[in-house]
Amino acid sequence: MSFKKSILCIGAGYVGGPTMAMIAYKCPQYKVTVVDISSSRIDAWNSDNLPIYEPGLYEIVKTVRGKNLFFNVDIEEEIIKADTIFVSVNTPTKTFGTGAGMAADLQYWEKTARKIRECATSNKIIIEKSTLPVKTALAMERILTSQNSSIRFDVLSNPEFLAEGTAIKDLEFPDRVLIGSRETPEGISARDELVQIYLNWVPKQKIITSNIWSSELSKLVSNAFLAQRISSINSISALCEKTEADITEVSKAVGMDMRIGSKFLNASIGFGGSCFKKDILNLVYLCEQYGLSEVASYWHGVVKINEYQKERFVLNMLKYMFNTLAGKKISLLGFSFKADTGDIRESPAIFIAKRLAEEKVELVISDPKALQNAKNELCNLDITVSFIEDPYEACINSDAIAVMTEWSVYRALDYEKIYKDMAKPAFIFDGRNILDHKKLFEIGFNVFPIGKPSMSHL
Ligand code: UDX
Ligand code: ADP
Repeated sequence: MSFKKSILCIGAGYVGGPTMAMIAYKCPQYKVTVVDISSSRIDAWNSDNLPIYEPGLYEIVKTVRGKNLFFNVDIEEEIIKADTIFVSVNTPTKTFGTGAGMAADLQYWEKTARKIRECATSNKIIIEKSTLPVKTALAMERILTSQNSSIRFDVLSNPEFLAEGTAIKDLEFPDRVLIGSRETPEGISARDELVQIYLNWVPKQKIITSNIWSSELSKLVSNAFLAQRISSINSISALCEKTEADITEVSKAVGMDMRIGSKFLNASIGFGGSCFKKDILNLVYLCEQYGLSEVASYWHGVVKINEYQKERFVLNMLKYMFNTLAGKKISLLGFSFKADTGDIRESPAIFIAKRLAEEKVELVISDPKALQNAKNELCNLDITVSFIEDPYEACINSDAIAVMTEWSVYRALDYEKIYKDMAKPAFIFDGRNILDHKKLFEIGFNVFPIGKPSMSHL
């Protein structure tokens, strides 16, 4: 079968995989190929056990895989064949040298740019999907054109705004699709080609265009604003715990102002995920590079409050459990950074598990999708850690339960049964405010939510 267009995506991760699956699903006239340097990842994409868990993803992949969606490791060959190349390799925070702990590590991205230049034999549109520091497209253009060949590369920025757990819905019905380009005739023509791809399923008014630097910066700023809301409400949760105000009531009252809006105001043990912390630190680093130290420290505060919130949670556990946790059995319900994903990158549960290990507790970790990732993460702790998927079994003989992730299964558990099997006094720390606290208290638990008055029998 001949296809109208050959689309390639380099990087088969949380962004590349689902995004390309959606393009293939909505555009049967295009051939979509995803490549990666990791052959095990590619094998998993070609199997029934996809490398990431995302509701609805498997069904879509199954429908189009082998028809117009392909996964392989032939990076060089696929670059030659493609006319449009999305780049969605990882850009983690740098762990070494200048900018360590703050700046984005661009080595994977730069290697990809060099590989494209080395292999391409015809003109290509190159699309940045990974989140990158503003002005990265300029560096990409310089690498791509540094060999003075006659091949033309047009670089576009098309940041991905999907959230894990809701990726399929976000891709199918995006709030907006943003495409940044050079404002030259060639840049605009490349941009129009990408617009045509999205027009297969996204309404025209939701596709917005901008200059390339605005597009790169908008992605960082969107994540910074979202994270800022969480740190704002979490900072107020600390004040609520001192004043008997209730954070759920405060966030409802505040969020009903249409100018503020109600979303992303749920107090929690802190935000996790691969993007928020990394992107804010990246923004902070950029501001510092441009000499904007006040702006940098303003945004840095968002990350600092997040660290404070996680530490506060552990200190509250210590305080309410008689200032000693050593030898006590504590069951963490949930380990992923949010519900409906097995991803644990930057999950607050990691920090809390490691801090509890310092206090010499006996840990039990439970999660419906993230247990293997949790095992890999915690394998070097020098305390007893068990990994038990069944939450009832996980809580047997525990002194305390701490809810780390808002999985809906945890709302619906039989807490009377759990209470009976626990050591007494039994404590529950609801790090997501998802449980019925009054009912738990009536059962006999000592209940400690976030940003709400505690309910204790002691
Ligand atoms: C985020 C952005 O939402 C998405 O647009 C971007 O493309 C990638 O980064 P993601 O990290 O997948 O997506 O998840 P998100 O739903 O934003 O949640 C991030 C963290 O914030 C989670 O740990 C979540 O539990 C926490 N959170 C979210 C809160 O603590 N309170 C809230 O009210 C909302
Ligand atoms: P994201 O959440 O941004 O999608 P992931 O880490 O899930 O990030 O995915 C990035 C993918 O990019 C990984 O599967 C990694 O193996 C792949 N990758 C990194 N560098 C290259 C490269 N030079 N060529 C091809 N794939 C790469």
